[in-house]
Amino acid sequence: MRAELAELRQAALTEIAATRTPGELDAVRVRYLGRKGSLNAILRGLGQLAADERPAVGALANDVKEAIVAALDTKGAEVAGDELRRALAEERIDVTLPGRTRPRGHVHPLRQIEDEIVDIFVRMGFRVAEGPEIDDDYHNFGALNFEPDHPARDMQDTIFVAAGNDTLLRTHMSPVQIHVMSASKPPLRVIAPGTVYRRDELDTTHSPMFQQIEGFMVDERVTLADLKGVLIHFLRRLFGPQTGVRFRPSFFPFTEPSAEVDIACTSCGGSANPDPACRVCHGSGWLEILGAGMIHPNVLRAVGYDPQAVQGFAFGMGTERIALLRYGIDDLRLFYDNDLRFLTQFA
Ligand code: PHE
Repeated sequence: MRAELAELRQAALTEIAATRTPGELDAVRVRYLGRKGSLNAILRGLGQLAADERPAVGALANDVKEAIVAALDTKGAEVAGDELRRALAEERIDVTLPGRTRPRGHVHPLRQIEDEIVDIFVRMGFRVAEGPEIDDDYHNFGALNFEPDHPARDMQDTIFVAAGNDTLLRTHMSPVQIHVMSASKPPLRVIAPGTVYRRDELDTTHSPMFQQIEGFMVDERVTLADLKGVLIHFLRRLFGPQTGVRFRPSFFPFTEPSAEVDIACTSCGGSANPDPACRVCHGSGWLEILGAGMIHPNVLRAVGYDPQAVQGFAFGMGTERIALLRYGIDDLRLFYDNDLRFLTQFA
């Protein structure tokens, strides 16, 4: 039995020395010192020994047990330290690495131009108004002095929402004039950006849905000079202080007189020195930017104003067209494709 105990002690110490982890060490402890472990197995034979031998063998068994416990403790402290060092090394955080940034969104290029345009008018005392995208014949056409058989009322141009041709998607932003003037009294200075709809095929310069910005002013003694002054100031703010501006006679049912407003081409030598091969102005040196005019007396009467007492001017422009010119782009569809490779260039 003494030999067995000595063997057990030797075997246990060898195994303990070979362990690497707290888990392995625990398994060794259970195998040798556990209730069903090797040491107890040997001690169960103690009863068969002669009575005078028992105390000495018992004492030896105790020594063996203490030696094993001491070895377990020492090794335990060692593997715990190893474990900690390994964890510290493997799980180290490098605080000098750059953080993970979240990409930040930005305003859509069309909306950026719209904001810029609206802001120029807000600085001149205009306030922002909106109107319904789904409107009726009266606001979109009738009150704006369109004759009943005006071609713009045709199914070819207008998207009607309901049968009876009365409910429609607004084809321009001028109906906001009617909404605002019907609801309020002069003096008025209003700028109204919004989405409009026409039955157009999508191509590089047309879309069935596009953006316009309408503006108008109504007050006593408003004249064509006010219209010209405001628009020239606006266009030079937007395109640069030296920009050439030209007013051409035109026609709209809701303005009289009416004008189309051009700026000198931003791509070639402009009005003074046009490039006959210019792809933007086609050699004319001029680019059409705005429709404008003095608000027709019939329109003022339709909203209950007295054309003898108050006058006004109005203007409207296509936001995409201005954005294309400003960014030097030749395809309007880019604004609606939502291709991030395009959009992120305007961050
Ligand atoms: N509503 C016109 C259009 O869509 C533009 C315009 C607005 C013209 C105001 C004159 C005055 O073409």
